[in-house]
Amino acid sequence: MTSETMAHVPPHVPASRVVDFDVYNPPGIEDGFHQAWMRLHGEGMPDLVWTPRNGGHWIATRGPLIRQFLNEPESFSARVMIVPKEAGLEHKLVPMNMDPPEHGPYRRVLNKGLGPRQIRNIEGDVRDVAIELIDKFAADGKVDFCAEYANIFPIKVFLAFSGLPLSDAPLLTKFSNSMLRPEGENPEEKAASMASANAGFFEYIAPTVAERRANPGNDWISQIIHSEVNGTPVSEYETLAMISLVLLAGLDTVVNFLPFCMDYLARDPGAVAALRDDPAGIRKRADELFRRFPVVAQARLVAQDVERDGVMLKQGEMVLIPSTLHGTDAKENEDPLTLDFGRKERSHTTFGGGAHVCAGMHLANLEIIVTLQEWLKRIPEFRVAADFRLVAHSGVVAQVERLDLEWDIL
Ligand code: HEM
Repeated sequence: MTSETMAHVPPHVPASRVVDFDVYNPPGIEDGFHQAWMRLHGEGMPDLVWTPRNGGHWIATRGPLIRQFLNEPESFSARVMIVPKEAGLEHKLVPMNMDPPEHGPYRRVLNKGLGPRQIRNIEGDVRDVAIELIDKFAADGKVDFCAEYANIFPIKVFLAFSGLPLSDAPLLTKFSNSMLRPEGENPEEKAASMASANAGFFEYIAPTVAERRANPGNDWISQIIHSEVNGTPVSEYETLAMISLVLLAGLDTVVNFLPFCMDYLARDPGAVAALRDDPAGIRKRADELFRRFPVVAQARLVAQDVERDGVMLKQGEMVLIPSTLHGTDAKENEDPLTLDFGRKERSHTTFGGGAHVCAGMHLANLEIIVTLQEWLKRIPEFRVAADFRLVAHSGVVAQVERLDLEWDIL
């Protein structure tokens, strides 16, 4: 969106709350993705601000308010959870765009396929994928971590877990990109990008649904197809919308979380040593990684007029509740940009909170732990290439372009 198409400030929004912040292109992003978002934590910045970008919307900037909004679906609805609102209205996934109590029974269907037990069962397969990829470049002493690992590993794991061919990865990545970082200069163009990607997911998955309806397997897709909600079989539309949601959420997040993590570790040998010297302990240290590298910036639709933080939010407005501003909130986590595995207090919503808390967190957790364990076994010390700077893009999920890592061959 260009500055010419900025929304006008509604009369109930005090001037002291207005900031110019484009969630798809935050000012200062060239100096660091999280640092750019953290400008909203600057001196004198209120906990709730309003930006004229992307149709005009509120942004909750601090952890406690973000958590509060996540937990109040009667006032902050997930029916629209992407800005601009026009684009969010085209994002129709089940049960992500439902509120409690409607959301609960569908979520229980998802949990059956993605629960801790199901994920524990695939740990060996996940490890094999990690080892195969790392072994391809470990002897080279350098790699573009995005191209050779992060862009492949979670997708390979997830498509195998879903019984879908790896050759479908580019198509699914294209749809994910359009839904999570919709293309276009204005809300209408972003809405068109979202609608076409949403439809693309549905068309892609429809033949697989038909095939597994006839020949069910043990996979999560078959489980969704053959499940019931409130005593009634899940409809064809709901089936497509649930499977599309899991594909969307499962394919893009770890891909972009991992490079932030590795870029930091490549510059902090102390943190690397702590992880390398206690591989089993990586499991309990992972939460600090999730706190430090939040990548999701989701929104909610204001469902009724409510007062928060001394201002009125009006029914029909949008409010961004970005996890990207929670783990990095210095009022919640001292010295937030430092990775500190020994923190006494830790607060974040990197996996969301409330009813919509990430359904794939057990898989995401496993993928991060396995990556670090297998990487550090083979590449115990590493650094970023000389003069390399991470280039990241902002969106519903952040995106990293490339990450040039180097290490000495022993
Ligand atoms: C680092 C990795 C990940 C992060 C940071 C992450 C983050 C999130 C966040 C913040 C939400 C809540 C969105 C909201 O409240 O509007 C969410 C929801 C969700 N995530 Fe994840 N996610 C990750 C990986 C995954 C994976 C691997 C899967 C699939 C296997 C997945 C599946 C889902 C689903 C299905 C939902 C919607 C749940 C619902 O609406 O009830 N996520 N995730």
